[in-house]
Amino acid sequence: MKRIFSGMQPTGNLHLGNYLGAVRNWVALQHDYECYFCIVDMHAITVRQDPAELTRATREVAAAYIASGVDPERCAIFNQSALGGLHAELAWILGTMTPLGWLNRMTQFKEKAGKRRDQASLGLYGYPVLMAADILLYHATHVPVGEDQKQHLELARDIAGAFNAQYGQDYFPLPEPQIFGAATRVMSLRDGAAKMSKSDPSDQSRINLTDDADGIALKIKRAKTDPEMLPTEIAGLEGRPEAANLVGIYAALSDRTKADVLQEFGGKGFGQFKPALADLAVAVMSPITGEMRRLLADPAEIDRKLARGADRGRSVAQPILNRTKEIVGFLQT
Ligand code: TYM
Repeated sequence: MKRIFSGMQPTGNLHLGNYLGAVRNWVALQHDYECYFCIVDMHAITVRQDPAELTRATREVAAAYIASGVDPERCAIFNQSALGGLHAELAWILGTMTPLGWLNRMTQFKEKAGKRRDQASLGLYGYPVLMAADILLYHATHVPVGEDQKQHLELARDIAGAFNAQYGQDYFPLPEPQIFGAATRVMSLRDGAAKMSKSDPSDQSRINLTDDADGIALKIKRAKTDPEMLPTEIAGLEGRPEAANLVGIYAALSDRTKADVLQEFGGKGFGQFKPALADLAVAVMSPITGEMRRLLADPAEIDRKLARGADRGRSVAQPILNRTKEIVGFLQT
């Protein structure tokens, strides 16, 4: 059986990178897999969060999933802390077989902890172990994510392998990353070398899922570019990160390849390309933004959907955790 688990942190502005790198692929995959899409609020608190804002953002991410086309009847959508005991318990068990050397290699920890490593929390350090637990708790076989999660997924595979080896059982499937599409790593609109990110202080660097049409158009108009024309071949994007990023975004939004987009726009300048990209982005994003707004007007209904999702999650996760504990040798009374 093919089963997907993936998730997103409810930490502020969801952006085009989250949509093109992850959610859009989930929408396509939901017909062929049994899907669990989580809002990982326990991961979110590894960085300080305002409590009311965390609650609000959790509902907003749920609304973004649904508005983007993830069907809550077909897929289980829930927030992680609703099944927090299960996720935390498995994370503890897996943490006992995760060498510090593996965690020390995690680039996201290094980036987030920065120079003040001694001040970083145990939670931030153990973040990838909780992520492995998220995935393994459902025996997920596939994990659709953006490029930046690749290292965390390799670690999840290593941890699953470590458990299986230690107990001499083929218990946890090794999850396969699914990183695909023309925009697996959407870059900042202000700097082609930096990832588009929720935490970038400049709002001009990203297109938020909640931006209106004028806002989207203005950000694209102001996006950093170079003075050259667009090339006719992909090789011509080499060394032009900003141009490559905008072409990638156009390709992903229009479900075309970059080569195809360059066939149309090669030889044209950004004065022509940017307005076309802005129109396309608005055409794709506006219905999602509108639907998010509609859903968020009824928070009680979002909560009901999340509660149903959590029930479905629990019915799969609880037996897997129970069996894990049996394998470990915990006395079951
Ligand atoms: P998060 O919340 O940072 O991002 C959610 C998803 O969006 C993708 N993404 C991007 N894709 C392309 N370009 C970008 N600029 C960009 N920025 C973000 C991410 O790759 C991700 O797929 N650790 C995860 C959350 C998590 C998780 C899990 C994911 C917790 N447990 C289990 C999968 C399975 C994270 O921080 O995602």
